[in-house]
Amino acid sequence: MKQLDDIIGKRKADHIDVCLKENVQSRRVTTGFEDIHLVHKALPEIERKKIDLNTTVFGYKFSAPLFVGAMTGGNAKATKINAAIAEAVEELHLGMGVGSQRIAIDNPKAERSFIVVRKKAPTAFILANIGGPQLVSKYGVREAKKAVDMVQANALAIHLNALQEAVQPEGDTNYSNLLQKICKLVQELDVPVIVKETGAGIAAEDAVMLEAAGVAGIDVAGAGGTSWAAVEYYRAKACQNVSSERLGETFWDWGVPTAVSLVETVKSVNLPVIASGGIRNGIDTTKALALGANLTSAAYPFLGPATTGSEDVKKALRYWVGEVRNAMFLVGANSVQKLQKVPVVLTGKTAEWLKARGFQPEVFARRRA
Ligand SMILES: Cc1cc2nc3c(=O)[nH]c(=O)nc-3n(C[C@H](O)[C@H](O)[C@H](O)COP(=O)(O)O)c2cc1C
Repeated sequence: MKQLDDIIGKRKADHIDVCLKENVQSRRVTTGFEDIHLVHKALPEIERKKIDLNTTVFGYKFSAPLFVGAMTGGNAKATKINAAIAEAVEELHLGMGVGSQRIAIDNPKAERSFIVVRKKAPTAFILANIGGPQLVSKYGVREAKKAVDMVQANALAIHLNALQEAVQPEGDTNYSNLLQKICKLVQELDVPVIVKETGAGIAAEDAVMLEAAGVAGIDVAGAGGTSWAAVEYYRAKACQNVSSERLGETFWDWGVPTAVSLVETVKSVNLPVIASGGIRNGIDTTKALALGANLTSAAYPFLGPATTGSEDVKKALRYWVGEVRNAMFLVGANSVQKLQKVPVVLTGKTAEWLKARGFQPEVFARRRA
């Protein structure tokens, strides 16, 4: 067991190092947000400083529709990163996801890097995290509850990372009957269970199955931002695993672009939907909300700031929220609810993709009736 913990601990440290040192963003695929256009209002008829950015999702009142996506835990560096993010989101009344808690579920010594989050953020929204493959192979209700209790989480995220596992040299590629396991957790846990992708997106068919399984929300985490094939490409290269290196290179841009995934999901289910995957600024957040998202999240943009401390995370979050306020001003929306009703124009390959999948342009930007 100790050996497996060491491997997972080293892997989590490698992920942080690779993301900080290498270019792990999508290369050819984009989020599709460049095809989403908000219509400028020359007469906004509202006052910018009076715009209400608050939004309540999963029973939590966020001061703005943004949280820091799941990244890390399990080692000393991760403890510092998690603490910095936690301090920042606490002060700003936002939220954060912790990285996969597998290492601490299996080894209590690694708990510190997760516990620190609730310690530093007693009132923020905290999202616990376990992996789909672990649910298939060995985890059940007991481990999921342990993850939730460890950070006194507001909700639990189950991450889907088939692309990453497929490229990872030591990847776990058994995803059999995962939906059944998710269904059981939903029934047994007393916090909302959210399912998230990790950068390859969720298409309508999967969103419908997840809603039928009873999940409380879906985080689409589409393609166009951090590529986990890219992260594993660099890890494979470093350990001279030529076949995984080649897989990582080939699958670098695999996935459903975030804007497509978001529209498909919003149009197919009646659940809170989180837009993530390559969301990089307040305009992306505003566009995602106008397309029907309830919240947005970003991971990679906060990794660098988190390594230098909570002040830098706070600064990055404040700029972001300021951009959302500005974009809302320029489309004349003085609340998140109003933003979800502003006109949106879809063009280019994103519109083509959605049309080819049976989503008609006139209803792109509307939730399922
Ligand atoms: C360094 C790093 C570590 C991550 N670790 C996890 C993880 O443990 N669990 C998880 O659900 N997602 C993890 N993610 C994925 C993110 O939560 C997110 O879904 C993905 O990176 C896409 O968002 P982005 O383009 O804003 O980075 C990680 C992302 C980064 C950058």
